[in-house]
Amino acid sequence: MRQLLPEPAEIDPFEAHAAAARPAPSDRPWMLLNMVTSTDGAIAVAGRSGSLGSDADHQVFRAIRAVGDVIIAAGGTVRAEGYGPPKPTEAVRAARIARGQAAFPRMAVVSGSLDLDETSPYFAEAPEPPLVYTTASAPPERVAALRKVADVQVAGTHQVDLVSVAAHLGTLGVRRAVVEGGGVLNGHLLAADLVDELNLTIAPLLVGGMARRAVSSPEEFPRHLDLAHLWESDGNLLARYVRRAS
Ligand SMILES: NC(=O)c1ccc[n+]([C@@H]2O[C@H](COP(=O)([O-])OP(=O)(O)OC[C@H]3O[C@@H](n4cnc5c(N)ncnc54)[C@H](OP(=O)(O)O)[C@@H]3O)[C@@H](O)[C@H]2O)c1
Repeated sequence: MRQLLPEPAEIDPFEAHAAAARPAPSDRPWMLLNMVTSTDGAIAVAGRSGSLGSDADHQVFRAIRAVGDVIIAAGGTVRAEGYGPPKPTEAVRAARIARGQAAFPRMAVVSGSLDLDETSPYFAEAPEPPLVYTTASAPPERVAALRKVADVQVAGTHQVDLVSVAAHLGTLGVRRAVVEGGGVLNGHLLAADLVDELNLTIAPLLVGGMARRAVSSPEEFPRHLDLAHLWESDGNLLARYVRRAS
């Protein structure tokens, strides 16, 4: 992978992401978002992110997953993308253990409806029961079904309170939480000021249409970021931004 900034270099995404500074606050994890968009900002083509992907993006996706203690996705994304458990290579598992992490990151999903298939590989093949964050108004029969395969946590009444989620992850010892979208979940995180880092791949594609943006919310929450690095591969731009220190 070719690094353009901060200085030109050939880099290994796994090494670079493992070495990146991510100073988590004492009471919650460092929250890092990872998204791919088209040049015009679409996060999906025909309802899925697959057409935006590339070898470079897949490599960075795996390198970012490799540093996460937890991988969070929203109910919409778990359904749309047919999520399964992470499958780190033996080398990645060894590197995680050497860093004091579990061999596999734990999965976590944010869902109000709990319209999640408890028989799917996401739950059935998970090395550790996934965390499911929901609200007090979730359908009780869905809570009961998911409790058989997951650790269901109630955080909020009508909407999952992401500040409480981050605090709960902190109590579990989670220091790095990788957030894989989609746009609605990312919008809630931005509103709660919980975005510490954005990894954004811009694929060389124009899409048009009405697909969501990487961060979607009815209101605006402008926050300044600093560009930590910019990589290029095959016309894809892979940027890492971090929260600007105040
Ligand atoms: N390009 C990329 O990098 C990328 C990444 C991820 C996804 N995607 C694409 O993006 C699309 C999905 O994104 P999206 O923005 O439409 O939806 P989304 O953020 O994936 O999911 C929205 C859903 O998540 C749950 N949710 C999120 N925040 C919540 C909160 N605070 N409280 C309660 N529930 C909450 C709700 O689930 P329930 O409905 O279960 O209550 C809500 O309906 C798909 O097309 C997917 O393929 C692209």
